Amino acid sequence: MKFFIDTADINEIKKAYELGLIDGVTTNPTLIAKTGKPFMEVAKEILELVDGPVSLEVVSLDAKGMVDEARVLAKLGDNVVIKIPMTTEGLKAVKILSEEEIKTNVTLVFSPLQALLAAKAGATYVSPFVGRLDDIGHDGMDLISQIVEIYSNYGFSTEIIVASIRHPKHVLEAALIGADIATIPFKVISQLAKHPLTDKGIERFLEDWANVPDKDSIFK
Ligand code: E4P
Repeated sequence: MKFFIDTADINEIKKAYELGLIDGVTTNPTLIAKTGKPFMEVAKEILELVDGPVSLEVVSLDAKGMVDEARVLAKLGDNVVIKIPMTTEGLKAVKILSEEEIKTNVTLVFSPLQALLAAKAGATYVSPFVGRLDDIGHDGMDLISQIVEIYSNYGFSTEIIVASIRHPKHVLEAALIGADIATIPFKVISQLAKHPLTDKGIERFLEDWANVPDKDSIFK
């Protein structure tokens, strides 16, 4: 399973990459706006640091506008993935971009049929938003199971990025279902390795180690 970091904050990206477990980055207009910096500056900064896939989102609503934006962004690097909203115009744009071998990530996916259409249009990735579905009383993970089943039924190569992740349990469930990728906010990445019993265990081992007679000379 691949882990992407869902942020446009360069410091968070640096820290997450130091872990050696991150395979790519996803951004969106909200995350870009949070940095307070110009979009192109942020995009270039991220691309200098990361060689895995970096999703950058278009903001046009019509297919032609999306394709025009995508062609500009794709020139920033081979690892640029164009994030396209899940609309009929978006699907038209994905079809054109996939014929040009420009990678796409269809975003704001909330139903299995939307994911089916994205795959048929030739999307490289699809991003179902689990947290936002949970927020309105649905079960976001049901959507992931359904997309995994549909893609497996027909052998689609579109990869599923579980998005809008709010807590480690979302990551666990995504892994159990067999999703390809989870795009995870920095805060949740930091929680993944944590367990209170691990901390307690280390504390106990160190207390006991203090009683080992040659402890101070072993590693000298
Ligand atoms: C996905 O690529 C989006 O950037 C993201 O996961 C949205 O998450 P949110 O619902 O926490 O804004």
